[in-house]
Amino acid sequence: MWRALYQSSRRWIQLCVALVLLVYLFITIRVGKSIIMKVLPRGIRADAMRSTTILRPEYQNQSQTAENQLWGDLALGGDALQMMIPVLADQSPYVDLPLTKDPRHRISECPSSLRQKVNTSAWFRGRFVEGVKLFMDLDDVDPAYWMAHMPYNKLPFGYQDENKTAVERMVRALKNPDIFGPSVTEDTRRRCIRCAVVGSGGVLKGSKRGAEIDAHDYVFRVNHAHMQEFAEDVGRETSFYAFYPESYHRGDPILAVSDALQLFIPYKGFDIDYMVGWLTERRILLLIQECGEKVCKYRFPLNPNVNETTVKVLHPDFIRYAFSHHLNSSRANRPTTGFLTVLLALQLCDHVSVYGFGYDARFPLYYYYDARRSFDEMKSSNHYTTDELNTWNTLHEEGIIYWYNGQNETLDTFTGH
Ligand SMILES: *[C@@H]1O[C@H](CO)[C@@H](O)[C@H](O)[C@H]1NC(C)=O
Ligand SMILES: *[C@@H]1O[C@H](CO)[C@@H](O)[C@H](O)[C@H]1NC(C)=O
Ligand SMILES: *[C@@H]1O[C@H](CO)[C@@H](O)[C@H](O)[C@H]1NC(C)=O
Ligand SMILES: *[C@@H]1O[C@H](CO)[C@@H](O)[C@H](O)[C@H]1NC(C)=O
Ligand SMILES: *[C@@H]1O[C@H](CO)[C@@H](O)[C@H](O)[C@H]1NC(C)=O
Ligand SMILES: *[C@@H]1O[C@H](CO)[C@@H](O)[C@H](O)[C@H]1NC(C)=O
Repeated sequence: MWRALYQSSRRWIQLCVALVLLVYLFITIRVGKSIIMKVLPRGIRADAMRSTTILRPEYQNQSQTAENQLWGDLALGGDALQMMIPVLADQSPYVDLPLTKDPRHRISECPSSLRQKVNTSAWFRGRFVEGVKLFMDLDDVDPAYWMAHMPYNKLPFGYQDENKTAVERMVRALKNPDIFGPSVTEDTRRRCIRCAVVGSGGVLKGSKRGAEIDAHDYVFRVNHAHMQEFAEDVGRETSFYAFYPESYHRGDPILAVSDALQLFIPYKGFDIDYMVGWLTERRILLLIQECGEKVCKYRFPLNPNVNETTVKVLHPDFIRYAFSHHLNSSRANRPTTGFLTVLLALQLCDHVSVYGFGYDARFPLYYYYDARRSFDEMKSSNHYTTDELNTWNTLHEEGIIYWYNGQNETLDTFTGH
């Protein structure tokens, strides 16, 4: 009798275990799938290698049905997101994870904001993503987030091969100021924010655009932002200044005393150590590089006004977004600092005017050089400048930005005032 009872209870236990397993499977499949559908934005597909690929907008329509089929057939468990982490064998900078969104982002209520153009410009609609995370903060060094996002691309698109401890030290050292300053709150923010972004292009030489540039609410500047001697052409106001160690402009007296927010773009491991050294100990790291036969050593001191309360570090997801959505990126290694700065302005402002951008053989390479320098200088670099030029041109033609290109159209005729 005991034996029979034992036999039947065993059967019951087996049945219960099977039932529990079934319910568990059902739930994980449902939940896992819905998480993935939420996290992956449009334009991203999963391929057989379980890698996620950002498709440039012009390719998004291709094999749409095949993709839908794939999504329909996917049955993924709760750990599915972990499984989705790309295996990047041949590393292409736009092969990647979903873009991180900023949970604190608020959409501008400006009725004439450039983001309204997503309604009228198919080109922009395929490219503009609202609320991409722009700057690093402590959330990014949270172990789970870090593992899911940072190790799958090399700098500047991720922190693969980089020392997490160093990145964490950099982020912890930052006081992470509000982008528009502590006095600007949701209530006091201007309804429509007008920004100028000023590059170094020779088109500005003799342009007399200084007053027009300074009249914007915020002015972004980049790299060698010579102002003192060229104020009439380029202005002197600076709200944001974007740089990496080698491009930092120490020489300009205006910049040296400016309270501009410093936008730091780490392109390589040295840049992280460099910023950590500067913020925590005011130490200037030596960059040691091979220069042909020789070994070169560089020091890049910063101004004292670059400190923990004035620095923000660009988020690798934003850099990846700018690159993958706005450039035909296969021909370049990375976007220029200027390109990233204009893309930042598109995220932060409602009206954007762009000056000194677009390499143009009619002008010297930079406004602060007299001699015409060869454009081959740019061709041999990491950037594909024709691609960036096309982007300015298209943004301007679609009425999304005002691009000062040395032609007759002025900011006033552009905006119709
Ligand atoms: C995708 O297809 C839709 C509908 O056919 C079309 O309206 C849209 O312009 C296409 N998008 C791109 C980027 O080609
Ligand atoms: C444009 O898009 C916004 C949302 O971004 C929407 O509220 C508005 O109705 C759209 N306008 C037109 C004319 O479609
Ligand atoms: C990582 O960075 C920390 C702090 O900057 C340093 O102490 C440590 O030695 C580094 N680790 C490696 C493996 O380089
Ligand atoms: C950082 O620099 C700004 C601008 O020069 C200055 O106002 C601020 O007091 C500095 N903060 C610290 C902690 O040194
Ligand atoms: C990118 O390439 C496509 C196809 O070759 C082209 O139509 C488009 O104009 C290019 N975009 C830019 C910004 O150069
Ligand atoms: C544009 O400017 C050039 C040179 O200043 C001038 O010759 C030309 O007539 C202008 N074109 C228009 C359409 O105003």
